[in-house]
Amino acid sequence: MPAARFSNPFRPGAGHMPPYLAGRVQETEDFERLLLQDVILENLVLTGLRGVGKTVLLESLKPLAFKSGWFWAGTDLSESTSLSEERMSMRLMTDLAVITSSLVVGTQSKATLGFSASIQTEHKLNFELMLQIYTGTVGLIADKLKAVLEFVWSVLQSMGSKGVIFAYDEAQNMADHAIKDQYPLSLLLDTFQSIQRKGVPFMLALAGLPTLFPKLVEARTYAERMFRVVFLDRLSEADCHEAINRPIRAQQCPVHFTSGAVDEITDYSGGYPYFIQFICREAYDVYIQRIDKSTSPVNLKEITRKLDTDFFAGRWARVTDRQRDLLIVIAHLDSSEREFTVQEIAEESKARFPDRPFSSSHISQMLLKLCEVGLVYKNRHGKYSFAVPLLGRFILRQEANDT
Ligand SMILES: Nc1ncnc2c1ncn2[C@@H]1O[C@H](COP(=O)(O)OP(=O)(O)OP(=O)(O)O)[C@@H](O)[C@H]1O
Ligand SMILES: [Mg+2]
Repeated sequence: MPAARFSNPFRPGAGHMPPYLAGRVQETEDFERLLLQDVILENLVLTGLRGVGKTVLLESLKPLAFKSGWFWAGTDLSESTSLSEERMSMRLMTDLAVITSSLVVGTQSKATLGFSASIQTEHKLNFELMLQIYTGTVGLIADKLKAVLEFVWSVLQSMGSKGVIFAYDEAQNMADHAIKDQYPLSLLLDTFQSIQRKGVPFMLALAGLPTLFPKLVEARTYAERMFRVVFLDRLSEADCHEAINRPIRAQQCPVHFTSGAVDEITDYSGGYPYFIQFICREAYDVYIQRIDKSTSPVNLKEITRKLDTDFFAGRWARVTDRQRDLLIVIAHLDSSEREFTVQEIAEESKARFPDRPFSSSHISQMLLKLCEVGLVYKNRHGKYSFAVPLLGRFILRQEANDT
């Protein structure tokens, strides 16, 4: 068969739906359980490292919500959305208006000047109407926003809707700004908590990096009870195999990976979906070019070089020499792929750099900086982890190349 007939099915790329969404059964069931709530007691936080599949899973939940009679509103949350409370309110109303703007909430007769006939004007539940309610409500921004949301629900309820999911990706970008006296994140939490208590079934589904949930709790301690946290982890071995094999079978490709190659890709990817897509796409490109063969070797050395350039190099280039030293120390810890403490790093640093080891306070300061640039994060138990999957392995490769 001519090579041109086959298009590469694998999709490495932020938010690109994979050819086959492997695993995530438990996580999907968790969401479906949340959909059964009449009164919303729990909202969803979908969290995990870069490239673990938050965006595509969130997207795959949308049809499930529709099927159960829910509406779905939302978008990516940029930092600018959470600059002020006003912006946050406008964001929510804009997203809601997308799904309600064709709904008619009343008609009004207006006599036309000089004629006996009158014109019927329809009022639609669009952004303008929401803005009228918003500006016409006396009180704080939270009061105005609640008035809008409660009004919208009164209309949706009469249509038999189950509720609305407000799905926001990249939600770790939200923040309060005490210096400017602006609390958009707290506004979001307060508003939803308040309307949910009144029985309005508007549910939050927030996706973001592992910094997201601690951020929510820091803004409002009750957030701890308000969310079901679904932590997306690496895929199991069996799920990795499915993620690799199914798309090839579905394309009825005459060539396939040997089971040894599948194991190798699984192992090498660490179970991280982005890496699976990346490695398979590269390897499959080789397949396509060697279409006359029944199997094709996976050249992991070449693929690694490309992965290092495409995925890791940019992040590595942005750290200082001293930060690199610290990251190298961390990468040598046995626990570097899970979590580590300041003390563990300090001990390893004494062994690795006996002349100039890092002090504990210096390590803490540097970790803070590395958290800010998104390479490391601090979990709720005060331990640290790499925020980028398989960063440790990359660092060790760099160290080996440099020596
Ligand atoms: N369950 C899965 N099975 C197979 N491939 C997947 C799965 N989940 C995600 N992927 C693939 O992994 C890549 C990353 O997915 P996605 O963009 O959703 O990750 P993310 O967690 O949102 O990343 P980021 O933190 O950068 O926003 C995509 O190429 C996607 O197709
Ligand atoms: Mg994403």
